[in-house]
Amino acid sequence: MTDENTNTEGTGSPALSAHESAQKDAILREHMYDGIQEYDNPMPGWWLWIFWATVIFAPIYILGVHVFDFIPSYEDDLAAGQAEIQSIREAYESTTQPFEITPETMAAYIGVQEHIDAGAAIFSANCLMCHGDKGQGLIGPNLTDNYWIHGNEDANLFNVITNGVPEKGMTAWANILSPEQRAQVIAFIRTLAGTNPPGGRDPEGELYEAD
Ligand code: HEC
Repeated sequence: MTDENTNTEGTGSPALSAHESAQKDAILREHMYDGIQEYDNPMPGWWLWIFWATVIFAPIYILGVHVFDFIPSYEDDLAAGQAEIQSIREAYESTTQPFEITPETMAAYIGVQEHIDAGAAIFSANCLMCHGDKGQGLIGPNLTDNYWIHGNEDANLFNVITNGVPEKGMTAWANILSPEQRAQVIAFIRTLAGTNPPGGRDPEGELYEAD
């Protein structure tokens, strides 16, 4: 131990900051642990504000949630949210018809560029690995010829796409693609008819004369 640390004490050194001299004036508390003493400084204002805010908040919150129920609990919020979703669902269901596959509904898709483009994107994302990038067939049959295993009506295609042919390796898309998306991909498949891409898989199924 040198005197270095105590040297500046009481020398009136101008190096003492305002904070340090304030501390020097503060009262030392009496207790001492392991030679450590503490000043009796007031708590900082911001700390006291937070402290009193929590003291005021806590009883209001406990009474509000558990006794008088004027603060909504998580369960209340959840029930309100679910009621809201339910009413949106009901409103939605009352305004929209479930998709029915008929020549009339399909007419809104077949040959409509917007739907064909959407169908092409669906095809590249989901179907190309089995039916080939041009629909020429790979594991799955050629979709560009006039031969169809399950029929050539839009409703036949819709049915195969919806339910799949699990035993032959065709996926069921009912839970993956919406009915509208299935209609869009049919609109795309219809553009493939007669494109005769190279490396096409041999015809399978029955021949349907082109319309
Ligand atoms: C895992 C491979 C696989 C995927 C992925 C697949 N298919 Fe198929 N698909 C098949 C197979 C295999 C068949 C033949 C089923 C049979 O022989 O009955 C088939 C049959 C079909 C048929 C009927 C063809 C006919 O001749 O009647 C259509 C239409 C069809 N798929 C459309 C699609 C569409 C659209 C997609 C994407 C949304 C798709 N497939 C994804 C394997 C697949």
